Amino acid sequence: MKRHALWITISVCLSSFAIAQAPKGQGKGKGKRETPTASSGKVRPYQNLWIPPVLSGKAIDLSLNKTKKSFWAGATTATYGYNDAQFWGPTVFLNQGEAVQLRVKNNLDEVTTVHWHGLHLPAAMDGGPHQLIQPGGSWTSSFVVNNNASTYWYHPHPHELTQKQMTYGAGGLIIIRDPIESKLALPRTYGVDDIPLVFTSRRFYANDQFSFEGDNDKYGDYLLTNGTLDAQVSLPAQLVRLRILNAEIERGYYFGLSDNRPFYVIATDGGLLDKPIQVTRVKLMVGERVEVLVDLSNDKEGSSLDLVAYNSGMEFGFPGSEPGVRAPNGSLLNNLDFGMLHINVTAPKAQRITKVPEVLTRNRFWTSAEVNNRRTVRISKQRGGEAFVFDGKSFDMNTTNQVVKLGDVEEWTVTNDRVFGHTFHIHDVQFKIISRSDGAVPTFEEGWKDTFYSPSGASVTFLAKFDDYASDTDPFMYHCHMANHEDAGLMGQFLVSRTPSSLKRNSAGVIQFREGMEHPLTPVMISKVERQAQTPAPAFSTTDLAGNPLSLAALTAKKPLILYFIERECPCARDAAPFLAQVQAAYGDACTVVGVINADTTTAKAWAKTVGTRFPIIADPDCALIRAYGAERAVYTTLVAPGGTIVKTYPGYSAETLKDLSAHIARLSASAESPLKFANAPVKLIVGCPLEPVTFAAVK
Ligand code: C2O
Ligand code: CU
Repeated sequence: MKRHALWITISVCLSSFAIAQAPKGQGKGKGKRETPTASSGKVRPYQNLWIPPVLSGKAIDLSLNKTKKSFWAGATTATYGYNDAQFWGPTVFLNQGEAVQLRVKNNLDEVTTVHWHGLHLPAAMDGGPHQLIQPGGSWTSSFVVNNNASTYWYHPHPHELTQKQMTYGAGGLIIIRDPIESKLALPRTYGVDDIPLVFTSRRFYANDQFSFEGDNDKYGDYLLTNGTLDAQVSLPAQLVRLRILNAEIERGYYFGLSDNRPFYVIATDGGLLDKPIQVTRVKLMVGERVEVLVDLSNDKEGSSLDLVAYNSGMEFGFPGSEPGVRAPNGSLLNNLDFGMLHINVTAPKAQRITKVPEVLTRNRFWTSAEVNNRRTVRISKQRGGEAFVFDGKSFDMNTTNQVVKLGDVEEWTVTNDRVFGHTFHIHDVQFKIISRSDGAVPTFEEGWKDTFYSPSGASVTFLAKFDDYASDTDPFMYHCHMANHEDAGLMGQFLVSRTPSSLKRNSAGVIQFREGMEHPLTPVMISKVERQAQTPAPAFSTTDLAGNPLSLAALTAKKPLILYFIERECPCARDAAPFLAQVQAAYGDACTVVGVINADTTTAKAWAKTVGTRFPIIADPDCALIRAYGAERAVYTTLVAPGGTIVKTYPGYSAETLKDLSAHIARLSASAESPLKFANAPVKLIVGCPLEPVTFAAVK
């Protein structure tokens, strides 16, 4: 049987390099398919590269489906794809500065999530392991596109299911446009001179189905380029742009062109480089992207060349350098030079870019002088446990590993003391690599990055600013992007907090999320809230924490009143408080906010101090007032009109409810509506913890 017959043929035509002979020996296990050809001994024909369709606009719908694909004639493989794709998904085009809504429907029979890899957005919109989409369910992620023009991607991120869902094909590219990139004379006709290239490899069983056995299938035997086996593409004889993503499970690529011609790196993960960098090889690890310009203008029509993975003889620890073909560490492509894409040169287009720009942009990176905090994360071994974890601890969904103060510039050093290379990725930010212990930072790594190679024994240091988005309840992830490693626990999570010191730690000093942080409203709760409208507000007469008298009658004599119900330990109640203070401040003295907390006076005072609110608070340890108003959960907010009638109760908060509240205040107080933005408020309704009386034991 001839394996890699195709690539052996190529090596005959190209004298400039020699492609290694296909390895001998059997693939792992019986029933593993080794050569997906209908009749063995024949060269597999090239197949035309699939170019993912485009989705654009401000409202985008994605659905993840089980589907099928024929990777070679006569075979049908069960796959996953977004929308109509048979493997992978459409390319989503976004414009910097636009507010977008991405709606995702999960048509699988297991949970999924969709993470927008590389995008800077609120943690709750990030699609990490906490934003689960149930089978048959949907999820909407709304955010403002902040990132620079570059190539990003989306993929599933449900903890322990990421490798599986990616193996079946779930993923897609995101291309962001911005005014700087748009003004440059660069190839940008998608599918013509601007070509998306997504590389991954798969192993097949003899029945043509993907082999998915966890760590045994980290390296595929067959390369898929945009899901196409043995891909070829026709490119015009002119300057072309390739947007390359390594979407592998674990394999790295050390790629170049078959005639060793130089090409130009113009963009890294998170944006353009200052200038194009001329190279002949690029090392691209799982999760990384690079945009390159290749000059085909002197190539003859009808000629061809190949994009090649020069993966033979890579250093120890390079993922995919292990010799051998057997699982768990070998594959038919390991430690081998192999073709990634066959390029057929066709006539140039009338409209074309002819030269590589000299300057692309002017990046302003963070500098060491701006660093507010330094930390180290170690890829290490868990004692008696997983081979690869961060700082000795396997990922735990309910534990926060790091807390970053909002607005800080941080220096992170990632060390790897294990006998294998990894790829490190962090959510929320784009960073700047400032040093590598394994040598100089390669010039093409000098741009904005969100993912990098962490070789065995090396440490890598980067600077990032954790700006704009804070939450004390929704974490961001950092992890090895090798899906098998991430699923096995090489992942951690961090909160970006406005006030890290106010976060509650357990006796071991660890910040734990509550189990079941989500508090869904029941239909009964919703209808109770709706029935409150236009009813008289329950009267009360009490004092605030400072001993000042507070009564419903006095409070609503002239002004509208906002009663804000607080659960003493609920993080959502802390998060929402500043927004209510913001509403009140916006209307000057035209309305009153009063907090009602299920705590004794001492606890209530401590709460007010950590949150830093100035509005009066009523301590309601036995929940008498809370029950009278029917408040079931923290962040219930009741608006009372002057005269004492309930206008509305909000059973939680979001940017939308805050805007609605603000509009009501304007009307009730006959003032102009304040143009409040609530940019950092959650998009979906956040419902707090149940409001229960303080138990006897807790009251001292
Ligand atoms: Cu590309 Cu945490 O992911
Ligand atoms: Cu890893």
